[in-house]
Amino acid sequence: MSTRPLVVAISGSLRDGSYTRMALSHALTASEEAGAETRLVDLREWDLPLFDPDDRERGDAVQLKRLVEAADGVIMGTPVYHGMTSSALKNAFDYLGKDEFEDTVVGLLATAGGGPYAPTLEHLRTGIRTVHGWTLPHEVGIQGAYNQFEDGEFVDPDLEARVHKLGRMVAEHATGGDQSPTCRVATSD
Ligand SMILES: Cc1cc2nc3c(=O)[nH]c(=O)nc-3n(C[C@H](O)[C@H](O)[C@H](O)COP(=O)(O)O)c2cc1C
Repeated sequence: MSTRPLVVAISGSLRDGSYTRMALSHALTASEEAGAETRLVDLREWDLPLFDPDDRERGDAVQLKRLVEAADGVIMGTPVYHGMTSSALKNAFDYLGKDEFEDTVVGLLATAGGGPYAPTLEHLRTGIRTVHGWTLPHEVGIQGAYNQFEDGEFVDPDLEARVHKLGRMVAEHATGGDQSPTCRVATSD
């Protein structure tokens, strides 16, 4: 059995040539370099009907839940749609909850056109904390994403470094709840 942490990235864009997917692939490369096993969830390949709380196990939902529950770290990536997350990512997320995210380190990434990405990252942060995931303070927003890649590679080395840092940090902190560092408080008795 592998002792390497598992980092799963979920890409919220269904678009061919998605910049979100490209950025997540780079982040996962950095996770691998930091010692993690990785898996990219490309939602184009998953059968996840519109979430219905009366039937939470439709399509590939159980598989998705198992994968995310097994993950020690998750990277959530979304395009900015009308200042929010994509419906594809939100729909996948609705199938998941505390069972999957408790004690899970989560990195956040958003790609935008000409507008701001901060509100989208905030939505993601709030959602992840609601299901008891541990969001990292290092987040990545990519504005003008259509100008940031050439043949799948970053044109801006600083942005590439930020994305790699995200993947690396998720892997480094993805040790699971039992192995998290404990906080020791000195007492005077
Ligand atoms: C329905 C829709 C809504 C969008 N809304 C915004 C927006 O509010 N602000 C923004 O900056 N870009 C917006 N965009 C542009 C995308 O965020 C941008 O192109 C993103 O990089 C696409 O990611 P992808 O390549 O992974 O699909 C929108 C695109 C679509 C299709």
